[in-house]
Order: sequence, then structure tokens, then C-alpha cells
Amino acid sequence: MDEATRLAHAYLAREVALGLEFVPRSVRPPPAPPARKERPAAVRQATDRPAVQALSDLLIEPEIGAASSLTELRGVLGDCSRCKLHGGRTNIVFGVGDENAELMFVGEGPGEDEDRQGEPFVGRAGRLLTDIITKGMGLDRADVYIANVVKCRPPGNRNPEPDEIVACEPFLARQIAIIRPKVLVTLGTFATQALLRNRVPISRQRGNWHDYNGVPVMPTFHPAYLLRNASGKRLVWEDIQQVMERLGLPVAKKG
Ligand code: URA
Repeated sequence: MDEATRLAHAYLAREVALGLEFVPRSVRPPPAPPARKERPAAVRQATDRPAVQALSDLLIEPEIGAASSLTELRGVLGDCSRCKLHGGRTNIVFGVGDENAELMFVGEGPGEDEDRQGEPFVGRAGRLLTDIITKGMGLDRADVYIANVVKCRPPGNRNPEPDEIVACEPFLARQIAIIRPKVLVTLGTFATQALLRNRVPISRQRGNWHDYNGVPVMPTFHPAYLLRNASGKRLVWEDIQQVMERLGLPVAKKG
């Protein structure tokens, strides 16, 4: 990234951090013809609005968009220092699994175990996700792809901040574009709101199909939430069954 782009990036990231929710019309790319009838702006709920009109889309490094494989994309990421999270990380947690996966899971960001091992979802919550994939869906972990919204561990497991998301999101967007999964499952509030660009609570989004650039998205609760709220497991299982049906996987009835 050249200096001018970096400065523009930092400026816009700061604006987002300060609460900017929309890119002013004058700097948006020309609108594509509407695919379906939009509700008039006046009747849109505040929580339905896109949180950010893809700032990163406007400032994306051309090398990211040009990467045609995950290996190439990992090369572009390099020893990343695009945001302040790089200072506290042990390992970049790029993502793991099958580049041709039909199913992709997206979490929030690496925790301590993931940071140490360089692999997403390997701690307690990760073991629960692995159980959902293997025992629930009858797949191997290697059959799916697993990534996070940010690739470096936020200190003390805090939520990623807007400038960190702006810096990292183009890599997730490109991972999704390269893999082109049949279904994306977003895990928890944070990943769901970041990918769907809204502020709607996970409890209102889970269980319903959404869209991310043409890929069907099923939001569900984060496995870490399930570790604290076992009652959520039934709802996650319902969400996962919908995913299995969409993928044509046999849904075994739980006894
Ligand atoms: N939680 C996440 O959101 N991602 C991980 O990789 C681990 C825990």
C-alpha cells in the first residue's frame, strides 16, 4: 500500500471509529441498478442500515483483489502490520480448511489458544465447533473452511475495533470470493454484524437466511456463548439443520 492510500485508509478508519456510518454519496462508486425493490429510506429501521458502506472496498489493495488462491492471498497478507493488533500477536491466524469447501464458518477473532497455535477455533469454543461439524453434521473439520473477521488476537479478547476490521476485512472478503462456499455460517453477534453490515442482534438474525455477495449466510450463536448457555444448543442445532438441508447433507434426527 502506498503512503497516500495508507493515509486515506487511516483517515477513513478513524472516521468509522468516531461513528461515521456511511460513505458520503460523492465518494461512493456509481450505484448498480437495484436488483429488487428497496424500501424507502424513511421506513428503514436504524438497525437495518448498513453500518459501513464497504470503506475497505474503496481502498482495497489491488494485490488482494488479484489473489486467485488462498496461498497467494496469504502471501499478500505477509507479516502484516496493517493495524495495531500486529504488535500483540504471536501468530497470524489466517484460516484453515479446504479451499474448495462448500461450507465456511466465520468467527470473530483469534483467542489465546488460536494465537499460540496459528489456527482458528482450537480452544474450548473451537472444540465445540469441531463437535458441531463432526458429530452434528457428519463432516470432517478438513472438509470445511474456518476463518475469522480479524486475523490477529485482540488484547484480552476484546472485540475488534473498527480500524482493525477495516484493515483486515478485505482479506476475509477475498477468502470468501476464492472459496465461493455454498453456505456461510457466521458465528455470533460480531461476525454476523460485520459481514452483514448491520447492528441487528444475533437473536433476531439467527435461524434466517441472509446474503453476502450472493452467498447464503446462516447466522448462529457463537460456540463460546453455548459454553455459557447450554440452552442455546437446541437453536444452533436447528440452524445447522437448515444448513445441512441446503447442502444436501442427510439430517440425522437427534434423540
Ligand atoms: N473465537 C473466535 O471467534 N474465533 C476463534 O478462532 C476462536 C474463538
